[in-house]
Amino acid sequence: MLRILLAISNDKARSSFEMVLDNCPFNVSVVESASLRSSMEKFDSKGPFDLVLMLHHPEKMNAEDFYIFAKEKSDRTAFFIISDESLDSYVGLSSFKTDHKFNTVLPLSTSTGQLTAKIGEVFQDKTNLNFTYEEVDYKKIRTSYFLRFNKTLCDVFVQLSDTKYVKILKRGDIYARNDIKKWSDKKMKFLYIENEDFEDFKEEFARTPFLVMDKDLTPETSEEASLAAIEIVHELVKEIGVSEEVVNLVDYTVFQMEENLKKGSPLEDLLTKMRNRKDYLNDHSYMVAYICGQISDRMSWDSEEIKKKLAVASILHDITLDNPELAMAVDLGLPELQRFPKEEVTAYKQHPYEVAQLVRDSDSEDIPPNVDEIVLNHHENPEASGFPKGIDADRISALSAVFIVAHAFVNEMYRVDFDKSKMLGVIFHLKKRFAVGQYLNAMTGLVESVDPMLDIINKPN
Ligand SMILES: [Fe+2]
Ligand SMILES: [Fe+2]
Repeated sequence: MLRILLAISNDKARSSFEMVLDNCPFNVSVVESASLRSSMEKFDSKGPFDLVLMLHHPEKMNAEDFYIFAKEKSDRTAFFIISDESLDSYVGLSSFKTDHKFNTVLPLSTSTGQLTAKIGEVFQDKTNLNFTYEEVDYKKIRTSYFLRFNKTLCDVFVQLSDTKYVKILKRGDIYARNDIKKWSDKKMKFLYIENEDFEDFKEEFARTPFLVMDKDLTPETSEEASLAAIEIVHELVKEIGVSEEVVNLVDYTVFQMEENLKKGSPLEDLLTKMRNRKDYLNDHSYMVAYICGQISDRMSWDSEEIKKKLAVASILHDITLDNPELAMAVDLGLPELQRFPKEEVTAYKQHPYEVAQLVRDSDSEDIPPNVDEIVLNHHENPEASGFPKGIDADRISALSAVFIVAHAFVNEMYRVDFDKSKMLGVIFHLKKRFAVGQYLNAMTGLVESVDPMLDIINKPN
């Protein structure tokens, strides 16, 4: 058994490497960490490790800082540092390559085969077992990964025996969550894809947002896909504790608003556009609506009117945006934000004003008062570093606070791919930020609404 610490701050990149390790043809046990601090803690508490596989990030996962720390504790652990940046100027790494015979710096372009072979060398050295890496025909992918998509990028198989695989989805198929769930219900932890598709899939996996929308769908399949997509959003929020009643109330409120928006009005146009896209922009808006409903359910000032305001604000808040990648990068605070043109980011910062104005201009009766205010404030935060105004935690309105907490929760859940087992960590993280001023009530509402779920998660099997 080879013990590996996988230290990668970027969630998507970590998932890609996780897939490679899942497919190692020998026994590995992997401990993951997403920050430098937790890497150090885990190195100490969960070691000894045979190998540290880390993705160097100058600020978030600095290879020099970690290496200096780890070297003091143990000289028996090999280090694979993945980095395209030359690490020669780091003094702390000057003896890196001679400290351990397997220490190496690998470029990001290292293929799965090359990386597996390298890990195999460490394995062979430890176990004295003869090991040669041979490509297998199929690679396994955790079944739960498929839930992030509704269209498969390649043929997908289940494994019936060591040599027998059966195709269950073919390239380009649109599938519903149930198509995947039936396999995970049968305790099939992995589905399989052909070797040649694996490199592409891994690439795509790291870039693709939550759901893939097929632009070439016919109206009928598009309708089906859109139902399947909202179905997936429903399933996800129910899984994290949102009640059936809240889901129904939100759906009904949105339906009512849509029905009553004037045909051809700017809001109606934008809403149709958003509903057709089925990506982060659409999905997260619905999720925020459900979470807002769930939070206000737990708050003393709960009323149907309040839930309605929050639901409408959720659906409309990002409606003028059309770059889901930019929206996601801003929301998740991703470092990739720099790759967007400055003008696009500046224009993006106007969207709270734009949507608030559209809401005020609309004379629909189904847009209740205060929606414009929630929309205008939706990028404010407790640190007072938000936009457009930088409102602090004491001056934000209680209604906006609910929205902002719900939005932050949804984003954090995106970060962990809606993995329920990580929800406890998400809540702890949010509590640190939001247990202040006007946010406190909303944060308490969120904790209470997911509390029963946390109990379930915490219970040992
Ligand atoms: Fe926004
Ligand atoms: Fe948003």
